[in-house]
Amino acid sequence: MSALLEVQDLHASYGHAQALFGVSFDVGVGEVVTLLGRNGMGRSTTIKCLFGLLPAKSGSITFAGKSIHNNPSHSIAQSGLGLVPEGRQVFPNLSVEENLVATARKPRKSGQILQEWGLERVYKFFPRLKERRMNLGVHLSGGEQQMLAIGRALMTNPQLLVLDEATEGLAPIIRDEIWDALTQLKQQGLSQIVIDKNVGALIKFADRHYVLEKGKVVWGGTSGELQGQKDIIHQYLGV
Ligand SMILES: Nc1ncnc2c1ncn2[C@@H]1O[C@H](COP(=O)(O)OP(=O)(O)O)[C@@H](O)[C@H]1O
Ligand SMILES: [Mg+2]
Repeated sequence: MSALLEVQDLHASYGHAQALFGVSFDVGVGEVVTLLGRNGMGRSTTIKCLFGLLPAKSGSITFAGKSIHNNPSHSIAQSGLGLVPEGRQVFPNLSVEENLVATARKPRKSGQILQEWGLERVYKFFPRLKERRMNLGVHLSGGEQQMLAIGRALMTNPQLLVLDEATEGLAPIIRDEIWDALTQLKQQGLSQIVIDKNVGALIKFADRHYVLEKGKVVWGGTSGELQGQKDIIHQYLGV
């Protein structure tokens, strides 16, 4: 599989506190890859570096054949990476529809051809958002906010969707709705990086996994391999 995203030897710090000590991984076209690890191991920091929200001290990030390392965030988004951030971060004082339109972007002409996302398609994908389209972000339930965060990222027409703890704090039934949505996106060919605590759901849904421990990748493998490695799951994920 040709690599859509290739991250090599990423080092990053918050002030004097180093958080990443050489993170390397890749994502193929159409692939779903996870970053696993306990809290504080560097998963969100890796995502921040990917999106230019935290400068990487060294290493390289190549997306669709081009270096995006330390590019400004808006240019990274333009190149085709879509983020569903930790904590959802919907605009509380904008309506659902205003939230969706705020980040809308036409697909790039180059690269993998995926069916275009716009308001109608997002509403068809998440009918709940259509029902709530005039409601303010602040008045949505957690599940609705999560759908909105995903819808907003889809409106940027990404080639790679990155989800940081998208099911966090949701009731199991709503969580399943989110997994169903992400599975449909995978079936439509959308590449994804997923961070989540539900290892069981990830093993079913994702193709490959990387385990982070103290800012380094300590294990990588397929879902089948991870399932057979109960000691890895126990040692690094504490479940
Ligand atoms: N804004 C920040 N300022 C200082 N340190 C941070 C900040 N965000 C994260 N860290 C530290 O960086 C390390 C990795 O955190 P993070 O990437 O958020 O972990 P994860 O997403 O895997 O739970 C942790 O030691 C954490 O305390
Ligand atoms: Mg995190």
